[in-house]
Amino acid sequence: MTYIFHRHATSELPTVSSSLIENDVTAQSSLRYLPYDDAVETIPPDEDHTVEEIIASLARVSRTLAKRYEHAVRPSHGKSHGLLKGTLTVLPDLPGPFAQGLFAAPRTYSLVARLSTEPGELLADTIHTPRGISLKVIGATGPMISGHEGEITQDLLLSSGRRFAVADLKGFLRVQRFLEGISGLPEGVKQAGTALGFAANKALHLVGSDNVLLDFFGHPHTHPLGESYFSQAPLRYGRYVAKLGLFPVSEELQKFVGTTLDPSSGTSVLKDAVVAHFAERGARYELRVQLRTSAETMPIEDASVEWPEDESPFVPVAEVAFPPQDAYSRARQVFADDRLSFTPAHSLAAHRPLGSLMRGRLKAYGAIAALRTELNATRRVEPRSLDEIPD
Ligand code: HEM
Repeated sequence: MTYIFHRHATSELPTVSSSLIENDVTAQSSLRYLPYDDAVETIPPDEDHTVEEIIASLARVSRTLAKRYEHAVRPSHGKSHGLLKGTLTVLPDLPGPFAQGLFAAPRTYSLVARLSTEPGELLADTIHTPRGISLKVIGATGPMISGHEGEITQDLLLSSGRRFAVADLKGFLRVQRFLEGISGLPEGVKQAGTALGFAANKALHLVGSDNVLLDFFGHPHTHPLGESYFSQAPLRYGRYVAKLGLFPVSEELQKFVGTTLDPSSGTSVLKDAVVAHFAERGARYELRVQLRTSAETMPIEDASVEWPEDESPFVPVAEVAFPPQDAYSRARQVFADDRLSFTPAHSLAAHRPLGSLMRGRLKAYGAIAALRTELNATRRVEPRSLDEIPD
């Protein structure tokens, strides 16, 4: 598809106008990208209370796990499968609506990425669970969101699946309470639970490829390097609003797409697969942006709704590349688990996270990462250069 757009490249924050609607023309259709507006969110009156309850529950789970492992771990996406050093290169000649914020001009940034799986516990890889990748782009310039002035990192936290399992913070609190309730159960019971859920839903034909139920009840044992990853929730994209996706494009990654790993073949199958790959080869992904074109079909407050790609496709804006490297040296593992934290709050104002779940995340990640480092008597590091990441 060829794109012809108006050019509104900006690295500065634009003037916000609620009446502005851009008319942008593609070769095949006329897309109208809805402009960002400070009033694009709808905040329920009791939201602060919901966020406090979520953080309190996450903190209790963190303390329970810290006792079990004699070491504090993330209460979500606790298990690392690799820490990668790489680059993010903004593509040249981006059409105006896509040349915004971090992507306003062609440039190569340093980047560090952590691969993970969803549970807070360090469960065996036989568990059926979504995969995650967190990107930390180093060297971002421009105003950051409030409370993060002076920082230079843009974090992008992405998970497998195009939408989140629940709509908003109220839904998240319900799931979190359930997870807290089972956090004391033995590992074997949880393994059996996810396997059962997966099998039952497969039998009922509820689980199709890229179906959100598949992630909720049990993700198949996919190769983490063959997955596509999504922001699931929206963020500001300069003058517009977007969701993001990271897609494997290089030949060496393509061969993993749609493949699964045998989780019973070892205790750390996912990490071993990642390490084996990067010992010999590199990887290239495309970061793609889906701009919001409809208030009806592309809600801000409900992250469980997939924005239809036939209304607005994902368009490539940057290449993310990783050279061959030791993806999980002991030094990197310690650094990823104990020193680094990724959060949607490490963000340019031009990419302000949006919607119910995002607002909760802005408060939760910092509070929980602070607790984690306090329990481990260590100090968080926000890298200003890749030299700070151990080999
Ligand atoms: C769009 C929905 C979401 C996605 C895609 C997502 C993804 C992720 C990812 C990839 C990580 C790993 C971060 C790392 O590598 O350090 C993570 C961790 C975490 N998530 Fe989420 N998440 C979502 C929603 C939420 C919500 C709604 C909350 C709570 C309000 C939450 C709380 C946490 C916490 C507390 C951590 C651990 C932070 C730390 O200890 O450093 N997440 N999430």
